[in-house]
Amino acid sequence: MDANQKKKVILSGMQPTGGLHIGHLTGALRNWVEFQDEFECYYTIVDLHAITVRQEPASLRRWTLDLAATFLACGIDPERSHIFVQSHVPEHTQLAWVLNCFTGMGECSRMTQFKDKSQKYPENVNVGLFAYPILMAADILLYQADLVPVGADQKQHLELTRNLAERFNHQYSETFKVPEPYIPKVGAKIMNLQNPTKKMSKSDENLSGVLFLIDDDAQIANKIKRAVTDSGNEILYREDKPGISNLITLFHIATNKPIPEIEQEFNGKGYGEFKKAVAEAVVEFLRPFKMRYKEIRANEDFLKELLKKGAEVARKVAGKTLQKVYRKIGFLQL
Ligand code: TYM
Repeated sequence: MDANQKKKVILSGMQPTGGLHIGHLTGALRNWVEFQDEFECYYTIVDLHAITVRQEPASLRRWTLDLAATFLACGIDPERSHIFVQSHVPEHTQLAWVLNCFTGMGECSRMTQFKDKSQKYPENVNVGLFAYPILMAADILLYQADLVPVGADQKQHLELTRNLAERFNHQYSETFKVPEPYIPKVGAKIMNLQNPTKKMSKSDENLSGVLFLIDDDAQIANKIKRAVTDSGNEILYREDKPGISNLITLFHIATNKPIPEIEQEFNGKGYGEFKKAVAEAVVEFLRPFKMRYKEIRANEDFLKELLKKGAEVARKVAGKTLQKVYRKIGFLQL
């Protein structure tokens, strides 16, 4: 890239709500790492989003550092990418308020994540949960992001973000970059091993179907061996075989082997043999991550320092966009 040419911008975020699972890695983190060479990357730990569901304060603090360590252990390089905590950059909530005033009630009530979560936590259907995607739009638009790497479940939120950017630009002249989602072709939606028609999620009731990054080798192997599979016995990646297709996806990601090659390799072999191979591959794939994680997580001072630096950079960029928005809207500038 020409030195004078400005790098394109990536922004993405993740909630610090406890153990990450392999879907977070395949749908998001893996791609975040890839983008670091070419793009100016901002990766945020979205603690403001996390409190749309009740969180225990000490756990939230701990999980925030856990997540920072996870980013690094997965290969995010703090020398090249900006890692920061959302609540350390107040511009996020400030822009979110402005965008609230540009979003229809109907737009938010159509969001499937809102519908799902309000069903899951009927005792706490709060306004924050409803407005969650607007805060996410603010996260993205503040940095003039070109590309947002996420899993398939965030696609609808990205559409809302694009609509809000276009609406604002149309009304007040060009202000926000209209971002594109980046949803990987494989791994954008890892399914629960016990219920392969349902997305793997850390808040699932059935945790034996969720592969946590910090599960030990035996836990990983057991969960994969007990994974629900489909009728028949062929190892084929097909829509009507969600259980086996999910395992093929995991094997593909763990080994980098193309899917047709995997199908061929296991042609004529049974589910049992395949599951054993998947278990071994996933254990090996996660091993280096786990070793790095332990080491990095032990150094809290280092993690806090890098989050502080990340927030300083983020505030500069976010502040510029916010000032532009405030000016255009007509807030008095002194
Ligand atoms: P969160 O924290 O639920 O998930 C973080 C990322 O992991 C992806 N993901 C999955 N990918 C594949 N298979 C799965 N089973 C799976 N489960 C989760 C998610 O798609 C996501 O990319 N709203 C966001 C956080 C957020 C954000 C942002 C993202 C806040 N602001 C701005 C991008 C840009 C969320 O709750 O992600």
